Amino acid sequence: MDTAGKPITCKAAVLWEFNKPLSFETIEVAPPKAGEVRIKVVANSTCHSDLHVIDGALWEKRMQCPLILGHEGAGIVESVGEGVTEVQAGDHVIPLWNPQCRECENCKSNKTNVCSKLRDTQNAGLMPDKTTRFTCNGKTVYHFMGCSTFSEYTVVSDLSICKINPEAPLDKVCVIGCGISTGYGAAINSAKVTEGSSCAVFGLGAVGLSAVMGCKAAGAKTIIAIDINPDKAEIAKKLGATDFMNPKDLGQIPIEGVILQQTGGRGIDFTFECIGNAATMKSAFYSCHNAWGVCTIVGVTPPTQELSIITLAIVAGRKLQGSVFGGYKGKDDVPKLVEQYMNKELNIDDFISQNIKLEEVNEAFDTMRQGKLARSVVKFE
Ligand code: APR
Ligand code: ZN
Ligand code: ZN
Repeated sequence: MDTAGKPITCKAAVLWEFNKPLSFETIEVAPPKAGEVRIKVVANSTCHSDLHVIDGALWEKRMQCPLILGHEGAGIVESVGEGVTEVQAGDHVIPLWNPQCRECENCKSNKTNVCSKLRDTQNAGLMPDKTTRFTCNGKTVYHFMGCSTFSEYTVVSDLSICKINPEAPLDKVCVIGCGISTGYGAAINSAKVTEGSSCAVFGLGAVGLSAVMGCKAAGAKTIIAIDINPDKAEIAKKLGATDFMNPKDLGQIPIEGVILQQTGGRGIDFTFECIGNAATMKSAFYSCHNAWGVCTIVGVTPPTQELSIITLAIVAGRKLQGSVFGGYKGKDDVPKLVEQYMNKELNIDDFISQNIKLEEVNEAFDTMRQGKLARSVVKFE
C-alpha cells in the first residue's frame, strides 16, 4: 500500500509523564513536510540518555511530555517531503541526533562537530517548523533529540539523517546512532589518545566500553576500566582493557588516590567519564597526569549540575574537555563507521546484550538502571 502523503497509524512507546514507565500506544504519524523524511524504524537500542529523561533528570524544564524517546535507531525511508534530495524512499538510514546542516558556523568549522542549526527546536521536542508530526488520541506528542525512534514510524529533518550501506544489518548498526560513536570517537577524535599511553575509563555501559575500544584502537598501552558492577570486567577486557577496578572494593581511599598510588604519583594520560555523575567527573579529572593529563567528559548530568575543582589542579596543564557524539560529524562520518563495521574493523555485536520487543523496553531500562546491560535492541517487526 502506498502510504506516501497520508498519515500512518502505528505503534510507539510514549512517555506521558516523567518518572513513569513508557506506555505502548497507537499513534498517528503525519506525512513529512518540506525538508523532512518519514522513516520506517527497523531497530532502536536503549541509551542512558533516554533513561535520564524517563527518570526526570535531563532537560526536564525544557522538555514537555508526552513525548516519544529513542535516538539510537536505524530504518528505511518510507517517504520524503518536498525538496529532499539526499535520500529517497527505500534508502537505509541512521537518524542523527547531532545533525549536520553544513551551513552554520559550527558545521563550517573543523573545530567542532556540533551543529547549531536545529538546537532550539530539537531541545523543545519540535520539528524545525515548531510543530510536531505525532498525535495520540488527538493529543500532540513531542519529538525527542530530533529522532524519536521508539516508534514504528518517525519523521525527522533531512539535516538529521544519513544514508548508509543497504547491506548493513540495521539491528546492529543502530548502535552507531549514539553509544558506539560517542565513546569510540571520544577516545579517537576528542582526546586523540596516543600510542603507548595510559587511559582510564569511568563507567562501562556502551559509551564507556566503546571508549575502551577506541583507546585500544589508538594503541594505548594501559587501559584501566572502572565500574561498580564487577560483571563488566570480562567484556571490558575483551574489548581491550588491561585492568579493571571497582571503586566499591577500595574501602575509604577514593579511586583517584588509588590510581595515583599505582602510577607512582604520575596519574593517567587520558581519562574518560562515561557515567554522567559530577563526583566521578572529579575523580576522572584528578586521576589525570598533573601536567599533560586530558580528562574528557562524555557522560551527561542534569542541566543545573555544577562541577567544582581545585584551581591548582588545573594550572600545571591538566586539561578538562567535553565530547559530544565522539567528535563525529553525523552525515560525513556515520556512513564511514557503518563501513568499518562491515569491514570487521569495528566491533558492535559484543555491545548488544539482548534483542527485545518494544513492549519489553521498560524492563530493559530497569536493567540499565542497575548498570547491568550495555544495549538492548528493540527490533520492530
Ligand atoms: N562509578 C563507576 N561506575 C559507575 C558509577 C560509579 N559511581 N555509577 C554508574 N556506573 C556504571 C554503571 O554500572 C554502568 O555500567 O556506569 C555505567 C553506565 O552505563 P549505561 O547506564 O549503560 O550508560 P551509557 O548509555 O553507556 O551512557 C553513559 O553517557 O551519553 C551519556 O547520557 C549518557 O550519561 C550517560 C553516559
Ligand atoms: Zn550546522
Ligand atoms: Zn545516547
